[in-house]
Amino acid sequence: MKPVDDVRQISALTYGFIASKALFAAIDLDLFTKIAGGATTLADLAAATDTAPNRLRTLLTALKTVGLVSETDGTFVNAPAVATYLVAGAPGDFRDYIRVVNGGFLYEGLRHLEKAMRGERIFPDKGFYEGIVYSEGGVGGPAFSSAQHAGSLGPARLMARRVDLAGATRLLDVGGGSGAYTLAFLKQNPKLGATILDFPETTETARHYAREAGMSDRVAHIQGNAITTEWPGEQDVVLMSYVWSAVGGNDIPTLARRAFAALKPGGLVLVHDFMVDDRHDGPAFAAWYLLASLPDNPQAECLTPGFVEGALRDAGFVIEGTATMLDEITQLTRARRP
Ligand SMILES: C[S@@+](CC[C@H](N)C(=O)[O-])C[C@H]1O[C@@H](n2cnc3c(N)ncnc32)[C@H](O)[C@@H]1O
Repeated sequence: MKPVDDVRQISALTYGFIASKALFAAIDLDLFTKIAGGATTLADLAAATDTAPNRLRTLLTALKTVGLVSETDGTFVNAPAVATYLVAGAPGDFRDYIRVVNGGFLYEGLRHLEKAMRGERIFPDKGFYEGIVYSEGGVGGPAFSSAQHAGSLGPARLMARRVDLAGATRLLDVGGGSGAYTLAFLKQNPKLGATILDFPETTETARHYAREAGMSDRVAHIQGNAITTEWPGEQDVVLMSYVWSAVGGNDIPTLARRAFAALKPGGLVLVHDFMVDDRHDGPAFAAWYLLASLPDNPQAECLTPGFVEGALRDAGFVIEGTATMLDEITQLTRARRP
């Protein structure tokens, strides 16, 4: 990244969070869906969102400055990517993920980043993840898991197409949440059965999506903490998606050892997560997400492919490699139990 040499670049950062918040507020009003539905003037939008015109004018102006909408002769139009990703019924709609995960869990957590930098916990009396996400005052289990589902559906389909599980019959999805990855792999591999291990607050949501996909009979659920609850053995595949960024660095060797023990010889472990490159230079979205993990767990690690592969190697795995999964955002490390 080129070093900044202009004070305006610093200002862009100091004010930048307001642009993020403008997006979250627009999603809260479902403004982009209203525009797509034909409410394209300030008056129409004010009526459709039940928002005073002065406030809506200010919000729309902020949205115009970051290219999310444009205005010609008083008519508002969604930007092309907005129409694809931020409108109800659009093919890539992930409004729920932005609203609950980015705008809720991460944004709220980041208010405490300075405290986390000193190593302090926001919910010192609660377990990690359980505190900031699932406790009273947190996001709430079903809301978080459903939003995570919206964000994981696309990447899950991609991973299920890219990772060949031919011959595998048992998948253990640790920290599997709503089961987005489990369901994508089951759809792709008709002989596969799966177990999702996650906190109890996620189970009802996972059951709901499994039912909806007509795959309840192929999914078992274990409620518990991946660090302390026993994992079922004789697995062909163990998947951990966005879990290594959620736990402390001291728990990662435990997860790696448990994955090794749960797998049959020849079994495959998949670690999918936000990772920066080994030089810690970026990409930015991965670096920012990993920073946002600290308020929940100040022991969380700045994950890199080298770190993830090293932890798996230490547990006895043979590394197959790490590759980009979501461009500029996540990576997938594959390793086998010999
Ligand atoms: C960001 S979500 C990802 C969910 C899912 N793996 C996906 O990619 O869609 C992280 C998940 O890990 C779970 N999790 C975090 N720490 C855990 C732990 N110690 N034991 C069990 N589950 C855990 C959370 O409850 C949550 O469902």
